[in-house]
Amino acid sequence: MSEGRQEKGNEGTMNVNPRPRFLMCRPTHFGVLYAINPWMKPQDWQRHDTVLAAQAQRQWAGLRGALLARGAEIDLVPEVERLPDLVFTANAAVVLDGKALLARFRHPERQAEEPHFRAMFHALRARGVVDAVHELPDRTVLEGAGDCVFDRARNQFWMGFGPRSDASARSVVEDTFGIDTVALELCDPRFYHMDTALCPLSGGEMLYVPGAFTAAGRSAIAERVAPDRRIEVEEADACQLAANAVCLGDTLMMSACSDRLRAELTERGYRVAVVPLGAFLRSGGSAFCLTLRLDRRSAAAGEAAMQRQPAMASASSR
Ligand code: ARG
Repeated sequence: MSEGRQEKGNEGTMNVNPRPRFLMCRPTHFGVLYAINPWMKPQDWQRHDTVLAAQAQRQWAGLRGALLARGAEIDLVPEVERLPDLVFTANAAVVLDGKALLARFRHPERQAEEPHFRAMFHALRARGVVDAVHELPDRTVLEGAGDCVFDRARNQFWMGFGPRSDASARSVVEDTFGIDTVALELCDPRFYHMDTALCPLSGGEMLYVPGAFTAAGRSAIAERVAPDRRIEVEEADACQLAANAVCLGDTLMMSACSDRLRAELTERGYRVAVVPLGAFLRSGGSAFCLTLRLDRRSAAAGEAAMQRQPAMASASSR
């Protein structure tokens, strides 16, 4: 399998731009300067800040290199002093079918990032990378793809709510994208963004941390994901944020992976690429949240693109 694996099913062969495209931000000003989740310990960071800052730079470069090596294109948000969490670009917006729904953050510490992500998306629109930039209604909080992940195999969004995003954002996502959105309540403060606890894989499996979700959330998952497609992440992997993985075709990039989890994923036809991101774990983040996929297409948009460009579609099916 390659990235081509993602093309099967609904989306067929209609991906006009076959290169996956991601938004990232260099960790020049990354650090743990405040605490807005239980992973963040500013005093621990401060004790070794020079070493950790250097480690963050190396680890981020490792992730970027791994994505580039697999053919990805990467756009960079200009880094900003005193905004250490701007590196977590997954939180910038929800992006699908060329539309970006800009995030609004729960905590003032991160609200200061909003104008920078907004400016970046307007620049991406000017360059034709996205077609439209949408705003959330006043007071609705939704922290981008950190709490709203597109599942290609099911052509739907999974949305986490509670700690960082409002349940009311669900209908905004549905109206903006015209895509079914299933909202799951989060209940473990360690898994404060849904992307720390749930990762839909390209072949339809779902990697998830059951204890991160309320009973209602777990049954919503069970209703939509067949038992043989559910891959439960156990405590040790969950605490390394293994579920915060980037899935690119048959490759899963994650910061750490136990032998057991690796065996299970390999058995199902995936390759695990371990990309150490320990410096970012200290902020409660890992691979998925350091990236934001910009080129995702839903089933309907993919079909429309194929109708507009039949020549392209048949060319890319080879
Ligand atoms: N320190 C950041 C915060 O608490 C980490 C964000 C990680 N992002 C994510 N999508 N999980 O907001």
